[in-house]
Amino acid sequence: MTKVLVATVKPFIPKAVEGIKNIVSQAGYEFDLLEEYADQAEFIDAVADADALIIRSDKATREVIQASKKLKIIVRAGAGYDNIDLEAATEKDIVVMNTPGQNANAVAELALGMMVYFARNGYNGKAGTELKGKNLGIHAYGNVGKHVAAIAKGFGMHVYAFDPYIPKDVIENDGVVCVTSAEELYSICNYISLNIPATEQTIKSIDYQLLMKIPEPAVLVNTARKEVIHEDDLLRVFEERRDFVYLSDFAPDCKDVMVEKYAGRFFFTPKKMGAQTAEANINAGIAAANQIRDYLENGGTTFQVN
Ligand SMILES: NC(=O)c1ccc[n+]([C@@H]2O[C@H](COP(=O)([O-])OP(=O)(O)OC[C@H]3O[C@@H](n4cnc5c(N)ncnc54)[C@H](O)[C@@H]3O)[C@@H](O)[C@H]2O)c1
Repeated sequence: MTKVLVATVKPFIPKAVEGIKNIVSQAGYEFDLLEEYADQAEFIDAVADADALIIRSDKATREVIQASKKLKIIVRAGAGYDNIDLEAATEKDIVVMNTPGQNANAVAELALGMMVYFARNGYNGKAGTELKGKNLGIHAYGNVGKHVAAIAKGFGMHVYAFDPYIPKDVIENDGVVCVTSAEELYSICNYISLNIPATEQTIKSIDYQLLMKIPEPAVLVNTARKEVIHEDDLLRVFEERRDFVYLSDFAPDCKDVMVEKYAGRFFFTPKKMGAQTAEANINAGIAAANQIRDYLENGGTTFQVN
């Protein structure tokens, strides 16, 4: 019997597990659940006789993949998949997929939430500012970027976007102004929302040159990835611009310096929490189960990443 294993050291919420289990059972497959496992050895044991695997941030290393005897598909319930050894999977003809977009609204709400929180001085009772009428630049118009744009328009912000891989009319049909370079975006907008992936091209690409272009007062919002920021440049910008503020879902490696020198000009979530909503959890889990069923029954490979 085809066996679908859900292996999550940090479990899905129960409603998501229930949803996955229903899809798996209706398809006539066996459902297996391994949660909060103590070590990789337990994961390796469990994966040995699984045909399909759903994981979250769990590490599907070469060792795990090689231990599987009949694995055909691994789905990362979430957007990033750098926790999976793609090369090892491909060598064994195992299809790897992610579930893009399922947490995009959750991440976008956090981005806007951090902006409001900061604009209102952390709700300290003193007069703050409004988002309405301010220019927001969305750096990458993917799943999260699109949701940030839609919510920001509800706030009455003027929304601009730069994404070289998305056609201009797609962006402009959403009532967003499409610009043709990151430099242009940063020159126009006081608020910048980072929604780029971490790639060879984007890692450390948010540098001194770009950040200095943001008009005063500057607010950089990062729900994308810590690695895209050039942290030495970030510190230089903090030193040279008193108006510069950084809000992020990831504390930078230079956090201690910032705490010491620039108190009151940043906010970092205590732990990455962009996708931490019940809805995102359920959406991603159910999408993963449906993708497995589609692959095993119809050979569907939407969202295959290897
Ligand atoms: N904070 C969180 O918990 C959380 C959750 C989900 C996603 N994320 C991160 O948010 C970011 C966006 O996620 P997404 O789901 O929208 O991804 P996505 O793949 O849907 O969109 C990424 C967009 O980036 C564009 N892009 C790629 N390279 C670019 C470049 N050099 N310049 C400008 N645009 C470029 C692509 O064209 C695409 O439209 C990613 O970094 C992802 O890891 C964070």
